Amino acid sequence: MTRVLRAGHDDLGPAVEALRRGGLVAFPTETVYGLGARADDPVALEAIFRAKGRPHDNPLIVHVASTDAARAVLATWPDGAERLARAFWPGALTLVGARRPEFPAAVSAGLDTIAVRVPDHPVARALLEGAGPVAAPSANRSGRPSPTTATHVLDDLGDRVDVVIDGGACRVGLESTVVDVTVDPPLVLRPGAVPVEALRAVLGAVDLHPTVAVPSETTDARAPGMKYRHYSPRAPLSLIEGDPDAVRLHLTALAAENPTVGIVGLQLGATGDRVVSFADLEAFAHDFYAALRALDARGVSRIVVGTVADEGLGRAILNRLRKAATRVERV
Ligand code: TXA
Ligand code: MG
Repeated sequence: MTRVLRAGHDDLGPAVEALRRGGLVAFPTETVYGLGARADDPVALEAIFRAKGRPHDNPLIVHVASTDAARAVLATWPDGAERLARAFWPGALTLVGARRPEFPAAVSAGLDTIAVRVPDHPVARALLEGAGPVAAPSANRSGRPSPTTATHVLDDLGDRVDVVIDGGACRVGLESTVVDVTVDPPLVLRPGAVPVEALRAVLGAVDLHPTVAVPSETTDARAPGMKYRHYSPRAPLSLIEGDPDAVRLHLTALAAENPTVGIVGLQLGATGDRVVSFADLEAFAHDFYAALRALDARGVSRIVVGTVADEGLGRAILNRLRKAATRVERV
């Protein structure tokens, strides 16, 4: 039986206890919900992979309560890590560095590196202060849109977790930015809620892994997990690229013509129960995954999404769109 705790009402003690015993606890962060287990327990880690149906070559992020605790996860603490931690922690930035041997290889899918993040969410921080380092991927079944509410978690993993902490909707709605600090300049492995432009403002030079721009089939061991389809609704998803005005016109026309298609985009002229129009990129990030799930629930035959500019928060949104898309069209 899955126990649901309401943040702000219920004592988090049972969640801390479940983690200590090697159980699975889903918890809110400012980005998306995480599916947590003790980072030092290979059996508990295996339960994460099993519950999600996650491929074993896709490593997990270790969540900790403070920068000091993060230093105890990484074997070395490069200058880039220090500068990024000062600027962005607690927050939506994940650092990849050398793994200390105390942490099992299972946490990072056998790599000698490990990913670590200090989340900016009071419930996550309280949990981590009580339980110590917690490995947590997003709390969705592998390949599904990431969960931004406790209901999404229960829909995907309801009977597979010991405790779900309901902390309401996640503030950002899009995952953290993953940066490899073992190389100089640091290398962005996954664009996320902290824009690359903000990293450059702190560090100067920052490189982008080739899959950041155009996700594709890759076997590069430095970017594990990137080769799988992600964030996908059940309905096939078409991504419409091209000039922003042309994209908007195309989506608006499609919404008028086709009653079985779900439409998602920025500042659309159309309205309706299958049309999701976001006012700006923050709203897009906040509600995109929820929109995919809601359109699936309405039984749409297809979901058509308009592209966004490849900069700032848009870079991370576009990365998710391209990974979720079964088809890309240009107008
Ligand atoms: O915002 C987030 O990052 C959320 C919340 C729960 O913190 N977590 C999340 O986890 O998105 P997940 O497992 O869905 O994505 C983790 C990403 C994957 O792209 C994975 O390949 C990368 O981080 N990653 C983890 N460890 C790595 C490592 N040692 N080297 C390279 N990439 C790594
Ligand atoms: Mg994920």
